[in-house]
Amino acid sequence: MSDNLHQLRCIGCGAQIKGAEAQPDFRCAVCGELFEVEFPGWRARKGPDRPNAGALKWLWRERRASPEALDQSGVWRFRELLPILDSFGDAVTLREGNTPLYHLPRAAKALGIDQLFAKHQGMNPTGSFKDTGMTAALSVARERGFEWVACASTGNTSASMAAYAARAGLRSLVLIPDGKIAWGKLSQAMDYGAVTCQLKTDFDGCLRLLTQIVKEAPIYLLNSVNPYRLEGQKTPAFEIAEAFDWNVPDHVIVPGGNLGNSSALGKGFRELCELGLTARMPRISVIQAAGANPLVRSLEDKGGTALEPVEAHTRATAIRIGNPASWRKAARAIQETGGWCLDVSEAEIAIAKAEIGTEGLGCEPASAVTLAGLKKLRARRVIASGETVVLVLTGHTLKDADYTIDFHRGTLLNDEERAGVENEIAALRRNAVVMEATAPAVLAALKGNAG
Ligand code: F0G
Repeated sequence: MSDNLHQLRCIGCGAQIKGAEAQPDFRCAVCGELFEVEFPGWRARKGPDRPNAGALKWLWRERRASPEALDQSGVWRFRELLPILDSFGDAVTLREGNTPLYHLPRAAKALGIDQLFAKHQGMNPTGSFKDTGMTAALSVARERGFEWVACASTGNTSASMAAYAARAGLRSLVLIPDGKIAWGKLSQAMDYGAVTCQLKTDFDGCLRLLTQIVKEAPIYLLNSVNPYRLEGQKTPAFEIAEAFDWNVPDHVIVPGGNLGNSSALGKGFRELCELGLTARMPRISVIQAAGANPLVRSLEDKGGTALEPVEAHTRATAIRIGNPASWRKAARAIQETGGWCLDVSEAEIAIAKAEIGTEGLGCEPASAVTLAGLKKLRARRVIASGETVVLVLTGHTLKDADYTIDFHRGTLLNDEERAGVENEIAALRRNAVVMEATAPAVLAALKGNAG
């Protein structure tokens, strides 16, 4: 029996096509916009025909205790809301998802909010949120008989794709900007056997080139223009809702790069509402680095109706993206939920990252924009102290150890960036100290760090 109940709908002109009819670059043949997966059967299911919300919630929770690989996946245990494969037996899973939701007591106290949480997507098998999308889209690639898959990446997508391709026995091609991705991520792509090309361009240049390549060779594109990626990436919304007993938090704050993730979470929360599983959507806010903020500019200058690409610069290399593909979908998620889009400086990112470190969690720099953004939203008084906030931490702290070490050594930021926040930075820095191998020397170090 086919589990496949979906079609693709263009977000620009509304054209509807079958999944297998998509062009290799996943752009609409009529208007050039991106597609979204939709499930026409759901529309018919109104009133008494609606899915039984209680039964689904029970089933999804029960699956966590099942020994089946598909049930143990935090993506596929929600498979009733992911009917994208002809057979779920084709799913390629590394037991992604089911990531922890941590309370952030120190940051909560400092910001005067009780209910502040981090949904740590860095706790996925390859250390980033990309795994939830990759299990979905790569499974489609395998089912459709592709031998090669490919992505352009700032590092995490390539690490994830290479791992899932290896599990599925497919070959993978990675295009990354030379010198602009963290070593941890590059090492993963190599370890999992990808053909890795470091191109003398930026992420946007890599994606442009790959879009051309997939039109010339039978290679399946796994960037987040691929709508199946977003189907997997919508499932953390389900997990968040489930963790709050299906009363969604007031705010979900997400980093913005190519803007697939914010789009996917928006879709996930929207579908829960449409199907009657939750009563409302959280406000979804997207935070960008100040040097890579095309969506902030688009919303400020053009009301989110057009986007002017920028030349991107930030040490948070994961979100060093100037021409984000999914900006229309992300703008919709922000606007329909009444969220905000703002940017944060290099120093604000570094400080927020160190603060998340002090919670015993850590994350990669791109993830820390969420806490930096929350501070700004609190300062603007748009988030009240009694509201519940979830920060989506997208990557593991070990992804970019160089950044962390440079921060603690004091070599990360330049004088201009540090100006005005020297004391905050000094209070967070914990440099490793070289000393004699004697007890008095170590005890003296303890004294120096008392309190
Ligand atoms: N955080 C991390 C750790 C990322 O790796 C990315 C994107 C983002 C946030 C932004 O998410 O693009 O969905 O808005 N990384 C991509 C990559 C671009 O190639 O790994 P987005």
